[in-house]
Amino acid sequence: MSKLTQSPAWQALREHASQLGTTAIADLFAQQPDRADRFTADATGLHLDYAKQRATPRTLELLLALARQQGLERWIAALFGGEPVNSTERRAALHMALRNVSGRPMTVDGRNAMPEVDAVLDRVCAFAEALRGGAWRGQGGARIADIVNLGIGGSDLGPRMVCEALQEFADGPRTHFVSNVDGAQIAAVLARLKPESTLFVVTSKTFTTQETMANARSARAWLVASLGEAAVARHFAAVSANVAEAEKFGIPPANVFGFWDWVGGRYSLWSAVGLCIVVALGPARFRELLGGAHAMDEHFRSAPWERNLPVLMGLLSVWNLNFLGCASQVVAPYAQFMEHFIAWLQQLELESNGKGVDRDGQPVDYGTAPALWGDVGTNAQHAFFQMLHQGPAAHAVDFILPVRPGHALAEQHEILVAHCLAQSAAMMSGARAEPHRTCPGNRPSNVLLLPRLDPFHLGALLALYEHRTFVQSVVWNINPFDQWGVELGKRIAQSVLAALQGGSAEALDPATRRLVTKVRGMRLGSA
Ligand code: F6P
Repeated sequence: MSKLTQSPAWQALREHASQLGTTAIADLFAQQPDRADRFTADATGLHLDYAKQRATPRTLELLLALARQQGLERWIAALFGGEPVNSTERRAALHMALRNVSGRPMTVDGRNAMPEVDAVLDRVCAFAEALRGGAWRGQGGARIADIVNLGIGGSDLGPRMVCEALQEFADGPRTHFVSNVDGAQIAAVLARLKPESTLFVVTSKTFTTQETMANARSARAWLVASLGEAAVARHFAAVSANVAEAEKFGIPPANVFGFWDWVGGRYSLWSAVGLCIVVALGPARFRELLGGAHAMDEHFRSAPWERNLPVLMGLLSVWNLNFLGCASQVVAPYAQFMEHFIAWLQQLELESNGKGVDRDGQPVDYGTAPALWGDVGTNAQHAFFQMLHQGPAAHAVDFILPVRPGHALAEQHEILVAHCLAQSAAMMSGARAEPHRTCPGNRPSNVLLLPRLDPFHLGALLALYEHRTFVQSVVWNINPFDQWGVELGKRIAQSVLAALQGGSAEALDPATRRLVTKVRGMRLGSA
């Protein structure tokens, strides 16, 4: 047994879970008359209702004791203090400095990071303003109408998701996102664009990611074919922690925006990686987004844990996974423009906490990141909610709902709200009827209300999930800031690529070697 599962706080929760037995969530309301009010918390305008979790006041006490036992207070201080919390890479994870609108010093490696952070942000904003206002033009003098972000993972998901979620506020050039090395994606995007009015942003922390570099080369060739080599400097910008490589690609230093190794890819949208967001929405709205995230940072580091949204959500997710045996974490934003939020959150949580060893390198004997998936409501109701209501396993759901719409169709929004609240109620109460109609109920959910899907509240929401992920990692004693698991596949792909191109297949396992032969044969029409 691991140190964690043997620990007193873990054992106490286990014992408590077995005492709770099959107690129905609905019955907890009878035992605790003020539950609907009491099991709520507010911060930065966001309202969390966790009354429909299968948890009692005692559960919360025990979860808070677990957080104390795991040193959450010390870890929060280490995170905000710029300590090397990413131990395998000996790096800090100080993404909070990127949105530190207070200007208060934040230190990493013994230096205040804020002057550099502010300087890059000012450069990004000036560049974005030049594009938005037409001061920066294409080679032939045309205004830039389309910006294409070429990046993958954290260099794509964050800016793509924010641009989609806040499209109602967009008043700059159109933004497009190309991430996949499947050429179908970039071909489809380029088919809609004109070289003379297009600017590409190559976004890559390392500037070596194979998919991004392949797309960057294709975009460059497409541009050069129409406008010539000299146009690259006017039509390409780069965002990277590897400024030297970006310059080697032919992008002049003035169009290269740096960030730092203490910004993890999945935490990078707040940095220059957010360039497309600034171009689309303008600097003022980008700063509102940062402001919302900063407000959540302040809440996380200072609010008592009993009222602390990231702490509560992190601990409840641990409870659901490790003690109640929930099969997965579902996220259902009732906001069409939050479709990409799920992919962003998948990278955040699964790349962060999908680990099988703890910080001491010992195998874990407890679940870490549960499978996380979802879709926007109400679409999701007509796809997989059947399983949530009647499947044999319980899944925990986060319902996210902006209470005011960004459009004038009030009646439709009322229907949307009704469905969101109804689904959460149905998951809890279920329904008794003949077997095929029975819904067991007793399935936990959170409801998270936002006043509106606007830059400030979206910023707060994203920071909330970032910190929730951190809280989970502290309980599980794992490093959430590395992602070594993605390296293996990348390495094997190099050997497969060489074999596909006629090189030796010796390094490949027999199954992969056969598949390479099969693919080559099928291409030649001989298989
Ligand atoms: O998927 C692995 C990963 O390293 C992510 O963590 C990162 O967001 C993505 O690749 C892209 O990396 P880069 O920004 O260096 O191109």
